[in-house]
Amino acid sequence: MKFSSDNALGREPFVAALSGIVVPDLDQDLVSAGFVSSVDCKAGDVTIDIALGIPCRSHHDALRKQIITAVRAIPGVQNVSVSLHLSVTPRAVAPTLKPVPGIKNIVAVASGKGGVGKSTTTVNLALALAAEGAKVGVLDADIYGPSIPTMLGIVGRPESLDGNTIEPMMGHGLMASSIGFLIDKDEAMVWRGPMVTQALDQLLRQTNWRDLDYLLLDMPPGTGDIHLTVAQKVPVTGAVIVTTPQEIALMDARKGLKMFEKVSVPVFGIVENMSTYVCPQCGHESHLFGSGGGQLMSSDYNVPLLGSLPLNISIREQADAGQPTLIADPEGAISNSYRQIARRVAAAVCRLKKDVSHKFPEVVVQKI
Ligand SMILES: Nc1ncnc2c1ncn2[C@@H]1O[C@H](COP(=O)(O)OP(=O)(O)OP(=O)(O)O)[C@@H](O)[C@H]1O
Ligand SMILES: [Mg+2]
Repeated sequence: MKFSSDNALGREPFVAALSGIVVPDLDQDLVSAGFVSSVDCKAGDVTIDIALGIPCRSHHDALRKQIITAVRAIPGVQNVSVSLHLSVTPRAVAPTLKPVPGIKNIVAVASGKGGVGKSTTTVNLALALAAEGAKVGVLDADIYGPSIPTMLGIVGRPESLDGNTIEPMMGHGLMASSIGFLIDKDEAMVWRGPMVTQALDQLLRQTNWRDLDYLLLDMPPGTGDIHLTVAQKVPVTGAVIVTTPQEIALMDARKGLKMFEKVSVPVFGIVENMSTYVCPQCGHESHLFGSGGGQLMSSDYNVPLLGSLPLNISIREQADAGQPTLIADPEGAISNSYRQIARRVAAAVCRLKKDVSHKFPEVVVQKI
C-alpha cells in the first residue's frame, strides 16, 4: 500500500480502518488481501485507490460506502474519494507447463457424467464473471460435441490474420474458441484420442486470446484419457465440478474430482445443477433427483459447495437459443446465483499462490 500525506495524518489509522472492511466471498479484509493500492492524503482530502483481486461489481457500492464511512471517522479527515478497479493476477500452475499468452487464469469446468449441465454452467459462469467486471473467454474442449457456439449464439468462421493463428470469435462480450467453428460436426466423430488432444492444444495455444482474466474450459463428458491429458497438459489454475444430485452423477463427479487431485490441480468446489424443481403452477419445490447429494460430496471430500441451480425450463430454453440466462434475465434470481458462484470461483483463484515464475531468471545449466 502506497501512502502519501502532506500533513500530520500518518499511515496507521488508515491501515486500521481499511483492515476492518471484509471483501465478501473472499472473506479477507482489504489490507490482508493486498487490495489497497494507494492512500493519498492532502489537507484532509483523502483519495483511496483499491485494486480488487476478484471481480465483484455487485459489491462495489457497498464497499465504497463502507470505506467512506470508516475513513471519514479518522480525526482530521474531511472528504474521501474512492476508486475501485479490478486487477486479477495470474496464479501458479504446474511448473512444467507453459502459461498461455493473453490468459491469466484457466478454470476447467468438468463433471464425469454427461448431460449434467457443464456447458450451460460454463457459459453462464463466464457471463457472470464478465458482468462482475472481468475479461473472460471460453474454450470449448468438447471436440466430439461442441455446444459453445450454439449457447453463445455465434455463427460463422473465425478469421486468421496470419494464416497460422485464429482470432477468437465474440459472443455476448466473451471471447470464444471451439472446434465447432472450424469443422463440421460429423468430421470430428472419427478422430482418435491423440488427434483430439492435439486439436485442443492448438485451439488453446493458436487462438489469439487477448488480456483475459479468466478462460473457462468447457470439458467433454467423462474421465478418460483425453481428460487426463487435458488436466496434465493444459496449465489449469483449478477446476469446478458440476453434478446433478442423482447417485450415478455424483459417483462420476467423484471420479472427476479425483482425476484433478491426481494431477495436483486444485478443485475449487462443486456446483449442484438441476438441484430442485419448482412447479410453475403451484410453487411446490421437489427434489426430483434426490436431495443433499452435492452437500454430502462437499463434506466427504472437503471441497466447498459453490452453489445450486434449480431445474428450470428457462435455463434450457435460453441457453439453447444462444441467449443464456445471464443475458436473457440478468436481474433474475438464477442470474444472481450464477454471479455468486462466479465470485466464489474467482475468490478461490485469488486465494492460491501468485505465479512468480516470471520473476526468476531462467536457470541454464552449462557444460564445462
Ligand atoms: N438447470 C437447468 N435446468 C434446466 N435445463 C438445464 C439446466 N442445466 C442444463 N440444462 C439443459 O440440459 C441439457 C444438457 O446441458 P449441457 O449441454 O449444459 O450439459 P453438458 O454436461 O455440457 O452435456 P455434455 O456432457 O453432452 O457436454 C441442455 O439442453 C441444457 O439446456
Ligand atoms: Mg457440454
